[in-house]
Amino acid sequence: MRRRPFVVASLAAACGGALAVPARLGAQELAPARLQRRLGRGGRTVPAIGMGTWLTFDVGDDTQEREQRRHVLQRFFAAGGGMIDSSPMYGSAERVVGELLPGLPHEGRLVAATKVWTPLTGLGPGQLERSLKEWRVPRFDVLLVHNLLNWRAHLQLLRRAKDDGRARLIGISTSHGNRHDDVERILKSEPIDVLQITYNLADTRAEPLLALAAERGVGVVVNRPFDGGQLFDAVGRCAVPPWAAEAGCLTWTAFFLKWIVAHPAVGCAIPATRQPGHMDENMAAGTGALPDAATRRRMQGLIATL
Ligand SMILES: NC(=O)c1ccc[n+]([C@@H]2O[C@H](COP(=O)([O-])OP(=O)(O)OC[C@H]3O[C@@H](n4cnc5c(N)ncnc54)[C@H](OP(=O)(O)O)[C@@H]3O)[C@@H](O)[C@H]2O)c1
Repeated sequence: MRRRPFVVASLAAACGGALAVPARLGAQELAPARLQRRLGRGGRTVPAIGMGTWLTFDVGDDTQEREQRRHVLQRFFAAGGGMIDSSPMYGSAERVVGELLPGLPHEGRLVAATKVWTPLTGLGPGQLERSLKEWRVPRFDVLLVHNLLNWRAHLQLLRRAKDDGRARLIGISTSHGNRHDDVERILKSEPIDVLQITYNLADTRAEPLLALAAERGVGVVVNRPFDGGQLFDAVGRCAVPPWAAEAGCLTWTAFFLKWIVAHPAVGCAIPATRQPGHMDENMAAGTGALPDAATRRRMQGLIATL
């Protein structure tokens, strides 16, 4: 689904003609009770809403941009956030996160998640060491092979890292529906703890793999929960329908994120933002009621009309 000029009009029709700008949620309105999910059979419990860093935290040494990202992290932890996902592929993001973390209130709650991303087997160990230094952490809570790149060799590195305490949970990541056949093969044959994959209201192709992951006791982290932001473009200025609000989805942000984390196989969704206000909204979606299976189907049906 991509931005189309008639999208707002068609959703207005789907919503019974109601058009309004959804109210923004302020930090003071955040409820304290966090939705927590277990990350796979052997995994730890994590807050259901984490955060990503692709593009958003690749700000290098730009002082102004860094200050804004510091606020984003502040709001994240103030609202009980845990998982931060990054990768050596994300430019300066790992270093920026590592330099901003000291002084922020994350003691005992940070779930540090990164990846190994290189086609060359010999470069994997050095990359992992660099990531540990950039994050300034002794170990990663989640360590994945990025986009399945050279996954056979790197899974061995990840197993060694798990054995010697540099990683707690290990696994693979993919996105945009890529290489689902390989993901299925790995889920069936490799002892991994975590799968990171794209799953959102515009892209539900991962569904069979979510079921398989649950069956294998593998925790699921969901990337691109807003379809890279395009879900917001698609709903435009239409109001959230009352039946969704009754199910705990008061904003479109909550509508998109709660639909994901209400799936029983999902441990955590990792939306990315540059904006503290958006972080408040994202974290607010990690509180309160979740839609049941019938409501999830109705939510999906609504978005499918766009
Ligand atoms: N292969 C992989 O392993 C892989 C691939 C893709 C992504 N990922 C991970 O998943 C994370 C999330 O995916 P993503 O960044 O591609 O896409 P996303 O989280 O679906 O969307 C990010 C976009 O949504 C906007 N946004 C965020 N919160 C919002 C809100 N409350 N209201 C309105 N707009 C909002 C952001 O803009 P603003 O900055 O203006 O808020 C940004 O443009 C990545 O950062 C990365 O950590 C992993």
